[in-house]
Amino acid sequence: MKTNFLWGGATASYQCEGAWNLDGKVESMWDRYLHENNLENGDVASDHYHHYEEDIRMMKEGGQTAYRFSLSWPRIIKNKEGDINPEGIKFYQNVLDACHKNGIEPFVTLYHWDLPQYWEDEGGWLNLEVAYAFEHYAKVCFEHFGDKVYYWSTFNEPKWFVANGYFIGNYPPGFKDVQKTMIAAYNVMYASALGVRAFHEKGYKGEIGIVHSYTPVNGVDDSIETRIAMRYADNYSNNWVLDTAVLGEFPIDLIAKLSEDYDIRFIKEEHLKIIKENTVDFIGLNYYARTLVKPYTSGETQLVFNHSGKPGQSKVVIKGWFEQVRDPNSEFTAWDTEIYPKGLQDGLIEAWDRYHLPIYVTENGIGVRENIEVDQVNDDYRISFMNDHLSAIMNAIDYGADIRGYFAWASFDIYSWKNGVEKRYGLVAVNFQQNQARKPKASYYWFKEVIESNGEKVERKIFD
Ligand code: NOJ
Repeated sequence: MKTNFLWGGATASYQCEGAWNLDGKVESMWDRYLHENNLENGDVASDHYHHYEEDIRMMKEGGQTAYRFSLSWPRIIKNKEGDINPEGIKFYQNVLDACHKNGIEPFVTLYHWDLPQYWEDEGGWLNLEVAYAFEHYAKVCFEHFGDKVYYWSTFNEPKWFVANGYFIGNYPPGFKDVQKTMIAAYNVMYASALGVRAFHEKGYKGEIGIVHSYTPVNGVDDSIETRIAMRYADNYSNNWVLDTAVLGEFPIDLIAKLSEDYDIRFIKEEHLKIIKENTVDFIGLNYYARTLVKPYTSGETQLVFNHSGKPGQSKVVIKGWFEQVRDPNSEFTAWDTEIYPKGLQDGLIEAWDRYHLPIYVTENGIGVRENIEVDQVNDDYRISFMNDHLSAIMNAIDYGADIRGYFAWASFDIYSWKNGVEKRYGLVAVNFQQNQARKPKASYYWFKEVIESNGEKVERKIFD
């Protein structure tokens, strides 16, 4: 690996901070949705709000050189008028100072899904005004933290929170509506471009990118029908985020297809110009699994998500477009995520060939049930998962891809949205029952050795 390769872990504000209503933080859309529906929530989560010093010190002790985390908009901006909460600013100043004190490079995401509820009340991402509110929030962050942060990302996983919130309906605001999905997707990508513009315009030191939930697409065979299905799947899963953020253009065949059945008059020339002129400096890719597809056969659109950890329930069929299939030869987690490091190798090469921008692997990890009430959590499955995915990254680097960092998901155990705290991803165990006590897992020590050897400790594998 290059000597300045970033090695770290990642988290997100809502998933780890807790302190949901402390020190002037206002309600987020997730607070409201989970409270109202009486679902497991992140009110306390890993209580990172009170443990950040310990967490960041442990990153350093674990040999890590970077920390990817997000800022909470409802902790920073109090209301629709855009007023700042000084205590929110102070909290993140402290987190950033702790990073620098420990030699940890902060890698900061502006939006990891916790929209202030006061904006959700105004229609959330269906309302173009929210894009301008995001621009204001981004400017406040650049102004207050710009001297302490070099790496910025506008959004974490637009595909995931837009599809789940507006198309599938399992995340707030819980719509199942294609027209709304299109509008939300458009407004988010426009907001991202406004954020990039605000950053570049003022000449802050550093780089700004976007983080995408990357699912490289494979087909079941080489037929022309399968290739068409693959293109639909790629447009649905990847291209509307990456093409738009990197090339400054929505995929034209996707727009043409949607315009057959839906109203696209929300697309405006003046927005497209801003999107075109304000593209990102780097790409952040979160990789968990690929998508294997076959041509659509019959039946209605079906999008079933496994939030229970009982294997074998997930389903993705988009009527007229494609169907996702399960590779019978693959291994899957209890939440139906395929374990497929080759997908990362191929996907990185594909993204590099297509976009030629620096890439950071901004999330990668495995979510499992774990007994952490032991002296040492021996998560050898996580070690082998990370080993193979790091190997995939190294293979892509050998091919020529410019990959500049790796962030394990997650730095420590956190709250996993609709999967609660049962699904654990951390390098460090958090005892959610007993004062959020921390204890490193075996993977934490293994990762330390990998970092100290600058990758040499990874047992290399070739994925053909
Ligand atoms: C992607 C998201 O960024 C994160 O919030 C989520 O918990 C992980 N993947 C695991 O599913």
